[in-house]
Formats: sequence, C-alpha cells, structure tokens
Amino acid sequence: MDFKRAILNWYFENKRSLPWRETKDPYLIWVSEIILQQTRVAKGKSYYEKFISTYPTLSKLSKAPEEDVLKLWQGLGYYSRARNMLYAAKFICENYDGEFPKEHSQILELKGVGVYTSAAICSFAFDQPFPVVDGNVYRVLSRFYGIHTPIDSQQGKKEYAILAKKVMCKNDPASYNQAIMDFGAIQCKPINAECPKCPMKSSCYSYNHNCTKLLPIKENKIKIRNRFFNYFVIMGNDNTYITKRTKNDIWKNLYEFPLYESNSKLSQNQILKVISEKAAWLNSNKIEIIASTHIKHQLSHQKIFSIFWEISATSSDLNSKCSLLTKTNPSKINDYPLHRLTEKYLEASHLKKDLF
Ligand code: ADE
Repeated sequence: MDFKRAILNWYFENKRSLPWRETKDPYLIWVSEIILQQTRVAKGKSYYEKFISTYPTLSKLSKAPEEDVLKLWQGLGYYSRARNMLYAAKFICENYDGEFPKEHSQILELKGVGVYTSAAICSFAFDQPFPVVDGNVYRVLSRFYGIHTPIDSQQGKKEYAILAKKVMCKNDPASYNQAIMDFGAIQCKPINAECPKCPMKSSCYSYNHNCTKLLPIKENKIKIRNRFFNYFVIMGNDNTYITKRTKNDIWKNLYEFPLYESNSKLSQNQILKVISEKAAWLNSNKIEIIASTHIKHQLSHQKIFSIFWEISATSSDLNSKCSLLTKTNPSKINDYPLHRLTEKYLEASHLKKDLF
C-alpha cells in the first residue's frame, strides 16, 4: 500500500473543516500554528478567531502593546508564545519590510518557531515539501512502520525526521501534512485507536503485530517540580495591590497578587514571620490574616501549591514600599493580563463578593 496515497484518500473523505485551512496567508497560518502548538483544536479555534480579528495583519500585530496581546492570550497558557510572536512580528517588519519570509531557513530563525512550525508554514502557505512531525505524526509513523526507537531520544528524532521526509507526498505537501495530523487526531488516536475501521490496517505493522497500544515509545517521563506560592491579597480597602512578573520564569509579564515563594507549605504563623522579615511593604504589627484559600495548579512541568493569604489592611497599614506594586481597584483587576491561577482564585474566593 502506498502510505501517502492512503493517508490522502482518508483525508479527502474525513477532513475537518478548520478556519486556518481556508487560507494561504503565511501570517494567519503562523498565528494558527503557534496557538495550536500546545492547545487542542477545539479550544484553539476561538482564540484564533479572536486573535485574527483583533490583529488581521502582521503590521497591526507588530504595533500592539504587549499587555494587549497577553490579555487576548489569557487562558491559553504558555505565554512565551505570545511574547515571541510580538517579537517576531516586529522583527519581520524591520528586516523583511513587513512581508512574511518564504525561505525555510528564514522562517526557522523567527523567535518561537521551531522545526515543526517552520515545516507547517512552508508547506501550508508556500507548498514547500517539508514534513511536519508532531505528536500525531510520531504516533502514525511508529505504528504503521513499527518503529520502536523512543520518540524523545536523539536517535529517534533523527530516524523519524528521515522517515517523515521519505514517505511524505511532495506534490501536495499542504494537504499531506494536514492529512497525517488529522489521521493521527481522529483515526490513529493515542488511546482507543479506531483500528477495526482503519483503511490502512492490512499494511499496518502494529495492527498486524498487536502492539498499537505500545507505540510510540517514550524514553523519559516528564519530571514534575513542586512549587509553593504564597500570595498576599490585601482586602478591606478601596484598593488592592498586584504586581507584574518580570523574571524569566513561568507567566513572565503577567500580573498577580504579591508573591512569596517558599520551599514548602507554610502555616499561618510561618507566613506571619515571613511578612515581618521579608515583606517590607506590609506592616506586620497592624495587619490581620482573615482567611486563606488553597489552590493546586498543575502545569506541564510544575505543580503549584498556592495559598492566597487574605489580609485585612488599610492604606495606613502599608509601608511606603508598597508604591513598588500596582495599586488597583479590585473591580479593575480583570483589565490586566492574568494567569490562570489568579483567575481561579478570583473565581473561587468566597470573599470576593464583599470585597472584590
Ligand atoms: N495541530 C497543529 N496544527 C494543526 C493544523 N493545522 N490542523 C489541525 N491540527 C493541528
């Protein structure tokens, strides 16, 4: 069986109608692929539509304030994607006269664009024969060809890249790349693959060797790091305080309540000690902890155990150092780009009805 022909035949009968498949505009394809890097299609679709109606052209995006782009991105996660896009949009305006580059090497140089995304843009926008190799493609190739090399090993990456190039349809790389991704997402699924009704089963290695569930093989399990975040939520005042994360860490340039990160979970007495020793902007003699809200938040490589310490304080209880923070009326917090953990707290806080 000709692999590429079978994949394309399947696609023409089963393909999903998706908005980024209706265009050859490299800017729109780039936006869609960045959104879809870590996001499921169903969720990505509405963000894509919102994004391109706000920034329909590269030139419009390049002039946008970063906070506006982050606000639009709120809830999608992996915010470096949005920051990198803005950086790349400015770079294209300055270096390529605002015209999206066509060369694979130029596209690969853009911030936030890796091997997968450059292949997607080159094939979808410019019909260049670069194969996409994402999780779907690894799965389809490993099962169909019986590849047992771990997909996250150096050797595996090389082997799959060579095979993907060899078996792709070079006459219609745009359709072929969409096809193999859809085939992986809909037919050759991670669990509950639809093998009995698969038109390729007679030639499929894993179907014939009964090893579909074992493939593809992954070498390393992701290591999860536990972190302990203590947030100070000032209440009982007309205003509360938030702060922008500026370090090279998760959620860079997003806003949150003032944070103290500890090595383990802290008790109320321990946090009071921290306030008196480390939080110079809070006058520890005058403040009172009125409640605490515990929220666990899971990211791909980190688990965050957070406690939002709700603190009753009036302006006079705050030290002048609080001017380093952003003072805001609680009703205005949502105007700032927030990460999902802060959003979760705002949704959960039983006190917010009274105080926020
Ligand atoms: N995932 C990543 N890119 C995609 C695309 N173009 N279509 C469907 N799913 C995708």
